[in-house]
Amino acid sequence: MSQSPDQDPRRIAIFDTSLRDGEQAPGFSMNTVRKLKLAHALAALKVDVMEVGFAAASPGDAEAIHAIASEIGSAPGAPMLCSLARANERDIDAAERALGPAKNTRLHLFFGTSDLHLAAKHQMEKPEALATIERAIEMGRGRFTEIEFSAEDALRTDPAFLKEVLECAAAAGADVLNVPDTVGYTSPEEIYALFADLTVNVARPDHVVFSTHNHNDLGMAVANSLAAVRGGAGQIECTINGIGERAGNCALEEVVMALKTRPDHYRANTGVDTRQIFAVSRLLGEVTGNAPPRNKAIVGRNAFAHEAGIHQHGVLADRRTYEIMSPEDIGLPSNALVLGKHSGKHALRARLAALGHGDMGDNRFEKLYADFKRLADTRREVTDNDLCDLIAEDGRGHTWELVRVEMRTGTKAKERPTAKVTLDHTTRGRLTTIGHGTGPFEALTDAFCVAAEVKEGMLESIDAHQLSREMEIEVGLTVDGVSITGRSQHTDVVIAAAEALLAAFNNHARAQETSRLANAA
Ligand code: KIV
Ligand code: ZN
Repeated sequence: MSQSPDQDPRRIAIFDTSLRDGEQAPGFSMNTVRKLKLAHALAALKVDVMEVGFAAASPGDAEAIHAIASEIGSAPGAPMLCSLARANERDIDAAERALGPAKNTRLHLFFGTSDLHLAAKHQMEKPEALATIERAIEMGRGRFTEIEFSAEDALRTDPAFLKEVLECAAAAGADVLNVPDTVGYTSPEEIYALFADLTVNVARPDHVVFSTHNHNDLGMAVANSLAAVRGGAGQIECTINGIGERAGNCALEEVVMALKTRPDHYRANTGVDTRQIFAVSRLLGEVTGNAPPRNKAIVGRNAFAHEAGIHQHGVLADRRTYEIMSPEDIGLPSNALVLGKHSGKHALRARLAALGHGDMGDNRFEKLYADFKRLADTRREVTDNDLCDLIAEDGRGHTWELVRVEMRTGTKAKERPTAKVTLDHTTRGRLTTIGHGTGPFEALTDAFCVAAEVKEGMLESIDAHQLSREMEIEVGLTVDGVSITGRSQHTDVVIAAAEALLAAFNNHARAQETSRLANAA
């Protein structure tokens, strides 16, 4: 079903699963309050469908789905809300109860259809699998606005059986047929051919839409999703920042911006308000404590940064020389207004609003303004990324605060570098510790590890970068087998390193607290 160049662009539905497939990945679990915050941002992004959890998976999941359905699900223009469910009565009932308050609901039933899944997970022969799928869809019919059926591990399913499964699901009442590459195994050529075949040859009512859902194990989730669209898929399942099981899912921001940037090639568009992308991506990074990598397409800190002189020259002459999208398109405000130490509250408020934080209360704003002024004293310009970091730090609440750092090094062989740090801990109070190492950064790390009562700590990497007047330091270390990272900037390199370590230990404390809450739920 590939399109000829003179056809109108097709409208592709965007199904966001950050709060289900994304949230189920280690390090990304969220409590109800955090999920609600993100759900509001996803609604502002104007995704078509929001998969907000797996109601039968845990009481915490059901509670979060219910809270989102109550708060967002009946607002005018709200996206359709969806819960995942296995093909059984208990899961379908749980999904119906949790989604209850929402106006437009979707039941997302899944069943593994590859030989491997049939044998290892379901212990079923093909006819029994077909009967189970048919029964589950019939059970859900009339209780939700729509039903989606996913043939889990579809890309490793026998193609003839896959067709049979999808025809059975459509005949039983499924409105959306999802063909997931559950293990990130396929290639763009292969998935294009599969969708081109299925969309032509699977018998179904006219309104039934094909959907694509790709994992990123081989780094091809976005390419595979775009190839599926070219093959005829009408819905893409994806997550903000590409979070999700193992290597993640298709990244929403990448697939949406690819369709927007290359309408000549894909002849397809979405209803996403792309100017919200940056704010949602940052918010997800804040609430999970996992910011996307610097070089991440579309939303990484470097995605629109031009460092090399030759690039800067080209961009100043004409942005199109090195930019295929404009930063404003993803909601990165233009830098026409530079924030620095002379900027006042109005300028900061305006910039926060542009970054999606226009609703910040007065107390939080005053604290942020004080932090902003402190930061502005150490540098010429405070960028949007700096502001987002300040907001993230502030929203997080710190377990550790740095009070003082002293460093002694020497040129003689026996003068081992020694660091003395004084830290405030939220419950343990003020602590002063001394650390040693073969170099000053190792000594600093040692002092932090002693304070945090780490049994085995090791500085793995230290990345230093000169940025106009100040030094940016990014540290990576392992503490008791867990990798942690932190970043900071300061005109004094020792303080920059100490603050980077502080950020790493605060991130670690926060991740531990998040998993403690998730386990308690
Ligand atoms: O990856 C997958 O197969 C899934 C299904 C539940 C759609 O997430
Ligand atoms: Zn998945």
